[in-house]
Amino acid sequence: MSTDDGAHDWATLWREVLDLARWTPSPHNTQPWKVRLSGGPTAELFLDRTRALPDEDLTGCFVVAALGMFVESLSCLALNRNLRLDVEGFDAEVVRQAASHDGAHTHEEDSLVFVAGLTLSSGGGATAGFPGNPGFPGNPGFPDQLFLDRRTSRLTPRPAPIQQPALDELQTEASNGGLRVHLLETDAQVTEIMRLNLAAVVEDLNTPSYHREIVSWFRASRRDEQNKRDGLSARCMAMPGYEMRLLGRFPRVAKTPLVGWLVRAQYRRRLGGVPRLMVLDGPFWDAEAALKAGRCLMRLWLVLTRHGLRIHPFGNLITNETAQTAFRATTGIARPWIVFRVGVTETPARSERLFLEEILVD
Ligand SMILES: Cc1cc2nc3c(=O)[nH]c(=O)nc-3n(C[C@H](O)[C@H](O)[C@H](O)COP(=O)(O)O)c2cc1C
Repeated sequence: MSTDDGAHDWATLWREVLDLARWTPSPHNTQPWKVRLSGGPTAELFLDRTRALPDEDLTGCFVVAALGMFVESLSCLALNRNLRLDVEGFDAEVVRQAASHDGAHTHEEDSLVFVAGLTLSSGGGATAGFPGNPGFPGNPGFPDQLFLDRRTSRLTPRPAPIQQPALDELQTEASNGGLRVHLLETDAQVTEIMRLNLAAVVEDLNTPSYHREIVSWFRASRRDEQNKRDGLSARCMAMPGYEMRLLGRFPRVAKTPLVGWLVRAQYRRRLGGVPRLMVLDGPFWDAEAALKAGRCLMRLWLVLTRHGLRIHPFGNLITNETAQTAFRATTGIARPWIVFRVGVTETPARSERLFLEEILVD
């Protein structure tokens, strides 16, 4: 957007790109970002520590990845306006520590942590200034609408195979980010992995600190979702509200012999078929690697959306150590950091987001 004399109206441009970047996905829909606008081309990005997940994402790497996804969205949305986004001072290790179990529990007095300075300028071009890598190449062709169309789908995908052009594009995008994409389609292997996932979910829900934290993000009713505009909505999880409340109050039900069997059977029934899993493989467990991996995941998720494909991540397979070790042993994949079901599904429900005004700080 330009004024009559051709100069940019930076304040309006920033609001426009942020209003779309708000739809960036994050674990549990925590939306851990805050932005301070200067009124000119610059802005400051902060981590909102109250939105980190220190008891599930113990290392803080997933929060770093989420912030990477957010900045990557901003960068692509800037390019759509023939603008370039420059990033300054992004110290991924500082952010990781602030979001990690130790950091988040020791500095509770200041909830906002500076992440990076952001500057828009005319002319487009690849984003510069990220630590450890020069930036993804050129114009990715991710129109604004893709950011709104992208959603997590917990609905059962159709069994139809993924077309080769989509796979090729995903592999190229992944390798730009230093990652590899693996597709797992053998029935026995997928069944075994889903068994590991369910065991990890039950174990994690029975870990008191994990349980306390995830329950604080449960939004069992439509009213709760609309009030808070974040978190895990029962509606999007395709789960009745009463079941979410039950798991919130009595996690141990999933472990008891009869009720537990019913709860687990219900989980499997609701999940439906898993025709295939996709795995992203590569460096993740240090701060700079997590930042790069997050940026890459954002781009991959947009590529998938462009091909009409939806995903459902299974985070417990990675954050639960026992599950991750067994997953690596059963697949032979050395550095998995996210595993998801992928395919064509019905259009899933759209999760809520904080209003633009709520992510802006003075
Ligand atoms: C790194 C990452 C891990 C995620 N892990 C899970 C998961 O384990 N289970 C799940 O149902 N959704 C998972 N999600 C999806 C988020 O819950 C989802 O993105 C968020 O609720 C916003 O919804 P949307 O993607 O439909 O916009 C994950 C998302 C990200 C970015």
